[in-house]
Amino acid sequence: MNNQQSPKVTSNPLPLGGGREGAFKRTTVTSALPYANGGVHIGHLAGVYVPADIYVRYLRLKGEDVMFIGGSDEHGVPVTQRARKEGITPQQVVDRYHKMIKDSFEEFGISFDVYSRTTSKTHHQFASDFFRKLYDDGKLIEKTTKQFYDETTGTFKTDRDIVGECPHCHAEANGDQCEKCGRDLDPTELINPRSKESGAKLILKDTTNWFLPLNDYEGWLKEWILEGHKEWRSNVYGQCKSWLDMELQPRAMTRDLDWGIPVPVEGAEGKVLYVWFDAPIGYISNTKELCESNPERWGTWQRWWQDEETRLVHFIGKDNIVFHCIIFPVMMKAHGGYIMPDNVPANEFLNLEGDKISTSRNWAVWLHEYLVDFPGKQDVLRYALTASAPETKDNDFTWAEFQARNNNELVAVYGNFVNRALQLTQKYYDGVVPACGELTDFDRQTIAEFTDVKAKVEALLDNFKFRDAQKEAMNLARIGNKYLADSEPWKVIKTDPERVKTIINISLQLTANLAIAFEPFLPFSSKKLYGMLNVEALGWDNLGSTALLKAGHQLAKPELLFEKIEDEAIQAQMDRLARIKKENEAASYQAAPVKPNVSFETFEKLDIRVGLIKDCQKVKKSKKLLQFTIDDGTGTDRTILSGIAAFYEDPSALIGKRILFVANFEPRQMMGIESQGMILSAVDFDESLSVVTTTKDVKPGSQVG
Ligand code: 2FM
Ligand code: ZN
Repeated sequence: MNNQQSPKVTSNPLPLGGGREGAFKRTTVTSALPYANGGVHIGHLAGVYVPADIYVRYLRLKGEDVMFIGGSDEHGVPVTQRARKEGITPQQVVDRYHKMIKDSFEEFGISFDVYSRTTSKTHHQFASDFFRKLYDDGKLIEKTTKQFYDETTGTFKTDRDIVGECPHCHAEANGDQCEKCGRDLDPTELINPRSKESGAKLILKDTTNWFLPLNDYEGWLKEWILEGHKEWRSNVYGQCKSWLDMELQPRAMTRDLDWGIPVPVEGAEGKVLYVWFDAPIGYISNTKELCESNPERWGTWQRWWQDEETRLVHFIGKDNIVFHCIIFPVMMKAHGGYIMPDNVPANEFLNLEGDKISTSRNWAVWLHEYLVDFPGKQDVLRYALTASAPETKDNDFTWAEFQARNNNELVAVYGNFVNRALQLTQKYYDGVVPACGELTDFDRQTIAEFTDVKAKVEALLDNFKFRDAQKEAMNLARIGNKYLADSEPWKVIKTDPERVKTIINISLQLTANLAIAFEPFLPFSSKKLYGMLNVEALGWDNLGSTALLKAGHQLAKPELLFEKIEDEAIQAQMDRLARIKKENEAASYQAAPVKPNVSFETFEKLDIRVGLIKDCQKVKKSKKLLQFTIDDGTGTDRTILSGIAAFYEDPSALIGKRILFVANFEPRQMMGIESQGMILSAVDFDESLSVVTTTKDVKPGSQVG
């Protein structure tokens, strides 16, 4: 957790959004609460936590008053499903994953001011009171609908707890979506809907729940978002517009479930608050928890959620847009007293090696595993994820690109410049900053190039353009490399040692600037660099200055800022993914449909026999073919060619095995050799082939039937 000092309260020049006048005094930053039913992966990091953390660190560096809120989302069906799968209680599930997620975020440097959980007492009370106020104020409507019900367990089923036959492709599908054909489904569309838990056939039964009439807020939403927030990212604005162009419907805020916050209404036993009702309230209850733990620093929770001079920014992935831009704002509006989000910089999705990241298929790079596999390399992942952040469209993470970002950019550009500047200082001046002498035009030109980086990075970060902002920071290092390469201090030292002092001084000022510029993005590296420069963190206001290190200042011993990542480390990750892919393919394999029946007479026309392999070799100039010499029991060897070379690296290993072959298969010429029959092979789920052998040493030539 971040133990920052009270910041100076400054007002940001940015105006308050949504038609509000004036400048704001503080910023509340939330990041989507991850479900505590598994780890956090690179998709979550790139989409939500890394950009949120960059933004918050940037605001703090500028001295702004900011609170960064995180926490685990511990209710909802995914948690109960995981509990069932593992044969443990939902509470045990969330206890395990909450700790795992919290610890890995901390190690990764996601600098939450609070990271709590929606099973906390404070949250249960807060969410319950919030609901009750809406209920008491008549803001909810009671509706009876038909829901799927499992008579064997006496429980209603949510969409994700229902399975049945997909009406489109006839594969087994979940109540909300068919994984096979990818279509969104309503559980009532399924053929033979059954309970995932008990397998029992489901019936439709009446149940009463409380709904939030989103339709009543349509006019207000249109004005607030479509008129008032045209500056929102086009993906966010566009999604809101398409929701608002359709007619909004009342949405159930309660569910018939036994895991969650009990509905605080008499007669509502067996019902809980909808997870998407309580989760965003978690942002507020976590704020309350933090404020109560340190009121001197943070004041009251109302300051952060109800004061018109507070800006509210939600960092989320695109699948959460409707909840943060429509449902949660309507909840707050209906309740009254709350400020509305000023911006919701939602990201698109990150794919992994060309495939959609999937928790259930384990197609992900998990943060807790990354931290073990790449110890001390938090900033490398932060850098790579920001460099390919899915800000405007879905993007792809590949391990090859991760390696290249490290080796070609962090090591070869940033690390290289810093290392050269520090090593030269060590070599020529025993690590003491030399005085800057008279500037040449080239010096002035270089200084001019890096002094406007502050304005550039700020303009980008203020507009949530993290990828471009990081590029600007890296550009500083490129300026530095060019400066050193062009001014060649290692040559000039022999002819004009006074001039070298100026070159090194400027290079060191640039190095200090890099530590500042990269601090929101790569906090671990900036800390290390400050250590090597032997200074305390320099503060954002100093970015662009050429007087950060005084002449005579002693630097610490230089070390490498980044290290090359070798091919072996990348290969190990690729091997892991290949293994997972294979496991997934095997798990999803469905046997091909059976061909139309044939009569015994038809079958009998095939003369299938056992052959003993006497020799087996690759056919020259063919990648596919193996040439078998078979003892077929006739006393004359038989030659058969088979296109299975790709599956037997060492064909000689097959010698001595008994295989099945079709003896009356019409002879064929291939690569100038006559093939006298066909070897039978089984086609595995991944299309790989395996010859079919006998379990006993039957005589060559024996017929199969
Ligand atoms: O999509 C998710 O992972 C949700 N757990 C996000 C919740 S965000 C907020 F509302 F808490
Ligand atoms: Zn389907």
